[in-house]
Amino acid sequence: MTGFLVVGWRRGDLAKVSALGVDFTVVAMAAELADPELADADTIVCDDIRDPTTLAGALIRAGVGRDRFSHVYTDRESAIIATAFLGEYFGDDRICLRTAFAMRDKSLQKGLIRDAGLPVARHALLASTVRDPAEAVGGLPYPMVVKPVTASSTAGVTVVRSAAELRAVVAGLRATAHGRQPLLAEEFVTGTELHADGIVADGRLTFMSVSRYLGNALGIRDGTALSSVVLREARHVALFRETRRLAAASLAALGLRRGVFHLEFFDTGHGLVFSECGARPGGAMIVEAVAETYGLDLSSAGFALAAGQAPRPPAAQAAQDFGWCNLPSPPGRLLRAPSERDLLGLPWVVGVRLDHQLGSVVPDNRLTIANKLGMALVTGPGEAEVQQRIADTVAYVRSRVEVAAT
Ligand SMILES: Nc1ncnc2c1ncn2[C@@H]1O[C@H](COP(=O)(O)OP(=O)(O)O)[C@@H](O)[C@H]1O
Ligand SMILES: [Mg+2]
Repeated sequence: MTGFLVVGWRRGDLAKVSALGVDFTVVAMAAELADPELADADTIVCDDIRDPTTLAGALIRAGVGRDRFSHVYTDRESAIIATAFLGEYFGDDRICLRTAFAMRDKSLQKGLIRDAGLPVARHALLASTVRDPAEAVGGLPYPMVVKPVTASSTAGVTVVRSAAELRAVVAGLRATAHGRQPLLAEEFVTGTELHADGIVADGRLTFMSVSRYLGNALGIRDGTALSSVVLREARHVALFRETRRLAAASLAALGLRRGVFHLEFFDTGHGLVFSECGARPGGAMIVEAVAETYGLDLSSAGFALAAGQAPRPPAAQAAQDFGWCNLPSPPGRLLRAPSERDLLGLPWVVGVRLDHQLGSVVPDNRLTIANKLGMALVTGPGEAEVQQRIADTVAYVRSRVEVAAT
């Protein structure tokens, strides 16, 4: 290896990258590079890591030659395409451009899954040239879900129940920042929403955890806080078997042969249906919940795999069960809220991340799952108990949060 280029930075990444014992450079936005843990690291500032031109410009200005890096990685979904361009330039073909686009564009992704004969919602692309979306969706039945092709964190994802609603929602989305990209219309899939988080190496699924979201993620529009519980294989043997099959075939169809993944899918009661897949660790506290359960940190594993190393193997599933939840707050300036200490005082809470301090403004939690007071990692002696404790944690926070209108 000649050098490892890490695109984007999060507090806590230093221990994971340093553990690899390789020569690394971080290219990231100025705010990320301000992290004190990067004080002694080799860094390059870039104004927009999502944009290939800006990213390449930053490296070229820094005098980086083609032989400087042999391995390139990002765990930011928004930077995966720009990073794949760099990978091609430096000769790292772990994620080729086609796979990077498939991991970023929901329309391309679902098309590849459908073409591979895997179960996926029927869908139609609504390009910006489409005059009447209700006509363009052809025979897709209502209710339907409309989303920007590169949506993330549920932003702009909307359920429509009629042609009139579809037209109104498409017009509304086109008038926002989402409007600069095509939209995707999909049939609504009824069922339990799940996610699988794991590792693929040499095209083989080598580790997989399965979790159940407690309700469809779009429940946030009605004020439900997003959460999930890690499932125990011994209790869900058939589900794990089916999920492995779906995950292996989906990753092959998308071309991801080496890396970590976060796969979302539905259990309809008559089989599993693919929803979407990212070539990155899951968001929220998914990494922490999987790490507590299996002793395997998928974020560290992502760095290791990208640097050509073998990730740490998982341990046997822990005796305790784990899950996590978003902590809700009404929108407004935060006047009163439980502290990290208060939350850790709940006997079942084993981890907390707060996004807001008193005085800061909490944005509307119904708009995206990224808007929240914070998150908590919850444990219990079984899945049902974890689910109950998640409900208790959310209720505890709700009863103690006070905001002032802004
Ligand atoms: N076709 C669908 N049927 C049912 N629910 C859907 C469908 N598409 C999206 N959703 C819901 O919306 C959420 C966000 O959509 P998703 O496609 O995962 O985009 P993103 O997570 O990138 O915002 C999903 O987690 C799921 O709860
Ligand atoms: Mg999603």
